[in-house]
Amino acid sequence: MLPILQRRTTVLILYFSIAANVLFVGERFYRRLAMILEEEDDLDVGRMLHVGNSNGRPVMNLSSGEQCVQHYGNGTCSDNYPTYHGQRLTHVVMPFHTSQVGRVEGNLRLWQTFPPCSREGQPASPLTGYHLVLYSSADSKKKAYIAELEARLQAAVANLTSDVLSCFQSIEIQHANLSGSSDTYYKGTRLMIEKLLVGKVKLQYPGQYVFYMEPDCYPIRSNWLNALDTSVRWPQPSFWMKGSIYRGYNKGVYATRHPPQYFHMNGNALYNVGDRQFRAWYIRHYRPYVQAATPRKDRSFDTDFWRFLYDLENIMVVRQVIHKFVYAEIVMNYWKSSYSVAKLRETFPNTYLVHGGYQKP
Ligand SMILES: *[C@@H]1O[C@H](CO)[C@@H](O)[C@H](O)[C@H]1NC(C)=O
Ligand SMILES: *[C@@H]1O[C@H](CO)[C@@H](O)[C@H](O)[C@H]1NC(C)=O
Ligand SMILES: *[C@@H]1O[C@H](CO)[C@@H](O)[C@H](O)[C@H]1NC(C)=O
Ligand SMILES: *[C@@H]1O[C@H](CO)[C@@H](O)[C@H](O)[C@H]1NC(C)=O
Repeated sequence: MLPILQRRTTVLILYFSIAANVLFVGERFYRRLAMILEEEDDLDVGRMLHVGNSNGRPVMNLSSGEQCVQHYGNGTCSDNYPTYHGQRLTHVVMPFHTSQVGRVEGNLRLWQTFPPCSREGQPASPLTGYHLVLYSSADSKKKAYIAELEARLQAAVANLTSDVLSCFQSIEIQHANLSGSSDTYYKGTRLMIEKLLVGKVKLQYPGQYVFYMEPDCYPIRSNWLNALDTSVRWPQPSFWMKGSIYRGYNKGVYATRHPPQYFHMNGNALYNVGDRQFRAWYIRHYRPYVQAATPRKDRSFDTDFWRFLYDLENIMVVRQVIHKFVYAEIVMNYWKSSYSVAKLRETFPNTYLVHGGYQKP
């Protein structure tokens, strides 16, 4: 009896250890996938390889059975939350490091001079509810600090005139909860935009097109919010990112002869955060590319977009998506360069915002 029992036990132990191994390996595999896909388990990444214009829905079917082509501003189409997901600007997101609160205040003060949705130029759409998100790097767990930070932001918002406030349906504060080790320029700025692009920033209203406006990205003429909205509306082709090539004149930047610095689309740009295929591309193709790269001081998330798009290794993916990255003049990247607002306004009638640099009279 005993030897049989022992044999059975051995067999049982063998079975058990195989099963445990399968479970262990299975769990690791599952965890890795879960980590890559975050909460997006229903993400249709397979569709990534064809990216068409499906995201814009210029033609709406009305309940009356009629069809309606969406026009700017006259309430025939149900161009409203939470059901409408077509091409429109929904948010301005202002990301900032906790050391930059003063710049956020300064930027908001400038909005009195250049109101986001002024009466001059095109009228604001009565259907358009824009939302403003002040998006800090702070960690929500630091309660005392958060209270102080939010009080300052609240005061800056309370300071806005009704002309400015009426441009926004809501203004909210979000924190990226960066921990000490990720609170560096290289990691922090990336993590903040990534959380937004992959849907980890739980906005009060679902985002479609978002203008990502660092505190050193300033309006240079009024009605910039409506101008941004117009540049995403049908009949504009839908896109993932629309922004500026380097337009400054800094000798040091030129001296680098470093193509990503010259050619990249600056991060202060419009992003189609509502497009799941953009999210799929980011998670499936772009993020692994960046993770495999060596962190360097001269790399940032926006120069890395350019590196990905112009790396021959990626051509089979890139040729399917490059038309989703659109250069435009609505915002100009003047990093480390001086400019005159009056001159810019005169020379570039379609430019509403300038990033970086220093104003001269
Ligand atoms: C609108 O109706 C047409 C005809 O019934 C249909 O083919 C189309 O898919 C509908 N479009 C939307 C966006 O529901
Ligand atoms: C909305 O605007 C379009 C274009 O101007 C026009 O053809 C349509 O009749 C307008 N609809 C209403 C209800 O005003
Ligand atoms: C609020 O407005 C006043 C008056 O324009 C200005 O002096 C002050 O600096 C503003 N405060 C902030 C936080 O922007
Ligand atoms: C930061 O943490 C707070 C509190 O836990 C949470 O509500 C918020 O969604 C987090 N932000 C992000 C971007 O994950």
